[in-house]
Amino acid sequence: MVRIISLCALAAFSLYPVHGINLDVTSVDSIKSAASSLASQLVGYYPAHNSTDFAVGLLPNPCSWWEAGSLFDTLIQYAHLTGDSQYNSIVSAGLQAQVGQNRDFAPLNESATEGNDDQATWALAAMSAAEAQLANGNATQWLALADTVFNVLVQRWDNATCSGGLRWQVYAFAIGFDYKNSASNGNFFQLASRLARFTGNATYSNWANTVYAWTKQTGFIDSKWNVYDGAPIVNDNCTEVNKVQYSYPAGSILSGVAHMYNITGSSTWQAELNGLLNRTLSVFFVNGTAPATEVACEATGCSLDQMAMKGLLGHWLADTMQMAPYTSATIMPLFTRSAQAAASVCDDTGCSEFWDGKHTGINGNATGDVGTSIDALSFVQGLLWQEAGLLGLPATVNGTATIPVNATSSGATSTPTKKNAGASMRAETSLLISVLGFMMWVML
Ligand SMILES: *[C@@H]1O[C@H](CO)[C@@H](O)[C@H](O)[C@H]1NC(C)=O
Ligand SMILES: *[C@@H]1O[C@H](CO)[C@@H](O)[C@H](O)[C@H]1NC(C)=O
Ligand SMILES: *[C@@H]1O[C@H](CO)[C@@H](O)[C@H](O)[C@H]1NC(C)=O
Ligand SMILES: *[C@@H]1O[C@H](CO)[C@@H](O)[C@H](O)[C@H]1NC(C)=O
Ligand SMILES: *[C@@H]1O[C@H](CO)[C@@H](O)[C@H](O)[C@H]1NC(C)=O
Ligand SMILES: *[C@@H]1O[C@H](CO)[C@@H](O)[C@H](O)[C@H]1NC(C)=O
Ligand SMILES: *[C@@H]1O[C@H](CO)[C@@H](O)[C@H](O)[C@H]1NC(C)=O
Ligand SMILES: *[C@@H]1O[C@H](CO)[C@@H](O)[C@H](O)[C@H]1NC(C)=O
Ligand SMILES: *[C@@H]1O[C@H](CO)[C@@H](O)[C@H](O)[C@H]1NC(C)=O
Ligand SMILES: *[C@@H]1O[C@H](CO)[C@@H](O)[C@H](O)[C@H]1NC(C)=O
Ligand SMILES: *[C@@H]1O[C@H](CO)[C@@H](O)[C@H](O)[C@H]1NC(C)=O
Repeated sequence: MVRIISLCALAAFSLYPVHGINLDVTSVDSIKSAASSLASQLVGYYPAHNSTDFAVGLLPNPCSWWEAGSLFDTLIQYAHLTGDSQYNSIVSAGLQAQVGQNRDFAPLNESATEGNDDQATWALAAMSAAEAQLANGNATQWLALADTVFNVLVQRWDNATCSGGLRWQVYAFAIGFDYKNSASNGNFFQLASRLARFTGNATYSNWANTVYAWTKQTGFIDSKWNVYDGAPIVNDNCTEVNKVQYSYPAGSILSGVAHMYNITGSSTWQAELNGLLNRTLSVFFVNGTAPATEVACEATGCSLDQMAMKGLLGHWLADTMQMAPYTSATIMPLFTRSAQAAASVCDDTGCSEFWDGKHTGINGNATGDVGTSIDALSFVQGLLWQEAGLLGLPATVNGTATIPVNATSSGATSTPTKKNAGASMRAETSLLISVLGFMMWVML
């Protein structure tokens, strides 16, 4: 137990010399074997997987609540791409344990401190579960959860400031309530696009159009398709855009655009997809000179939250290739190189955050944690994006999905409760940052 908890913290322990894990990118069997090792390692960070002493669906402090949702989403993609279903039951149980009393992923423990981006992260995992027909549940149940969160976010769309958009945080007392960000709006957009594809219901695609248009109009996506973090609400406007760039919101929006392109086949969405893909690859693969890199923080030190981000980009790049196969010619060279680099800095104790081959020391360079395992696994398993066809693509329920009554609870939110130590960490970090007067917001 102690070992697990300390690993989840920012444990700077030596991974070197690492021998890497074997990965032959030309062999499906080798990719599956490497992914299997990494998935096993990732599950090892989730203490409830083999012990009843830990809360189901949670990672230990100081890991953020959202990161558990991302861990489950990563494992759903693992099962979908490799066919290895051994973790499906713990994933299903983990998701179900955190749905909360309104079945909207706002459980009492978290509802006061979770941001719109965090809540949407769990909804995206539920969406993945619906698409992959995750065992121990069924598409209807998972779809209902995703739809409920969608409707919650629709209710929170805030026309009163910045001509629209979701705020980062939900409640006025939370630091970050006066900030609108690309992660919250990007996840909302992706959720709407995937619900649209899955159900054929125009309500979702209309909202996807609205959210994307607003995000561009506000300059969170600029004319060159840079995706910026967000903006504080000043004089009811979002004009002071904070131009730090993280891979996670860029990847989230990219996936949503690929889904909209897949649904519509339109040249308008294709142009957005091409622009966003080109810019996202240029920024986070450093003009094609490096494997995936969290450019905003790797040189200076990423937070635990930030360390998981490039894995989410990898996950959603794989989804992008599924939705728009022509993009694979552009993506795969960089993706493959990243997967190889990631595998080379993993061993059976964890994975380093740094894939650039320039970090060979042990002084905090070799940080193994949940996030770095999500990163490596996402790029390794994503090599199998074409294998999904063999397993059956996400089911499309053309407009006929039955949404249970509970699913349309239209924006009911949980009553705020007192914060627990882990969940309040992000808010305190933001407070510290704002007190110091920095404009660099911690995005999550
Ligand atoms: C539970 O899993 C952890 C991590 O994989 C492992 O170290 C531990 O031995 C397991 N415990 C039991 C009781 O199987
Ligand atoms: C809520 O927090 C308590 C105390 O940490 C924990 O025992 C419980 O399992 C948590 N509930 C959920 C649904 O995670
Ligand atoms: C799917 O799940 C829903 C909600 O739990 C349940 O009502 C329904 O009977 C399930 N359908 C099947 C085919 O198992
Ligand atoms: C807010 O904007 C959305 C999207 O443009 C629109 O659908 C909705 O009706 C607006 N809400 C209000 C209260 O004006
Ligand atoms: C489409 O989805 C919206 C949002 O959940 C829902 O209100 C509406 O009833 C759905 N329409 C159909 C035909 O299912
Ligand atoms: C918001 O920005 C618009 C366009 O720049 C400007 O016309 C308007 O006065 C601003 N609103 C406030 C309250 O400053
Ligand atoms: C982006 O587009 C430019 C101009 O067409 C091209 O030179 C560059 O290689 C592209 N970048 C990537 C990563 O594809
Ligand atoms: C990437 O290319 C652009 C345009 O050529 C250049 O301005 C920028 O400095 C390059 N960045 C890196 C890290 O090489
Ligand atoms: C949509 O996705 C499917 C599944 O990957 C693919 O076969 C199809 O070609 C895609 N549509 C477009 C327009 O790319
Ligand atoms: C990473 O390792 C290099 C080489 O050993 C060392 O120079 C550098 O200071 C280390 N960086 C950190 C953040 O510890
Ligand atoms: C809504 O969900 C709750 C909890 O799962 C359940 O007890 C209740 O019967 C459901 N209500 C309806 C109308 O389905």
